[in-house]
Amino acid sequence: MAKPLILLLAALSILYTASPANATTTSSPSSSAIDFIEASCSATLYPALCVQSLSRYATSIQRNRSQLIKTAFSVSLDEAQSTKAIFASKLNGVKPGGMAVVKDCIEQIGDAVDQLRESIEELKNIGQAKGVGQDLEFHISNVQTWTSAALTDLSTCTDAVVAGEALDGGLETSVRARMDGAARVTSNALALFNRFGTEL
Ligand SMILES: *[C@@H]1O[C@H](CO)[C@@H](O)[C@H](O)[C@H]1NC(C)=O
Repeated sequence: MAKPLILLLAALSILYTASPANATTTSSPSSSAIDFIEASCSATLYPALCVQSLSRYATSIQRNRSQLIKTAFSVSLDEAQSTKAIFASKLNGVKPGGMAVVKDCIEQIGDAVDQLRESIEELKNIGQAKGVGQDLEFHISNVQTWTSAALTDLSTCTDAVVAGEALDGGLETSVRARMDGAARVTSNALALFNRFGTEL
């Protein structure tokens, strides 16, 4: 049973990579842009995920560090938003007694979404502050503080949902995978910022 499934998944992943929907965003990025993304992603905790999530934007990232960081944050915001939406749409898989934990958790993901939005706003301020040499440290520390807070919210929520056994098994697995994914791309965005944020 296991083998055909793996083959099927392999075939699907090839199909997915070759799909036209994907091709519109990739439109054969230069290998130098991909090299740049790979090299930058080596500064993160989840380099493979980092490359995977950013390389589809290689054409707009090129070898531009500022563009790379902004894209990493927007990937993170997208993931947090869709995790929240998916979670909120699956409340019928919540066990009796689990609703309080789940509502808290969805609220925390909402906080993470807000914090990531604020961070993205601050990224713009950093570029401007550099020009006039004002409040640069302040804007940098805001991004670090808010992104770390978003990361904490995402992991606290995952822990609470898992520990509280609030969800039916299948739903718990899928929600957890999404929250882990959102937390990882957020961790990656923060790592890229910490390493290269001064190049914004
Ligand atoms: C890099 O991207 C930023 C936008 O994120 C842009 O303002 C800047 O001009 C770009 N730098 C180069 C060298 O293209």
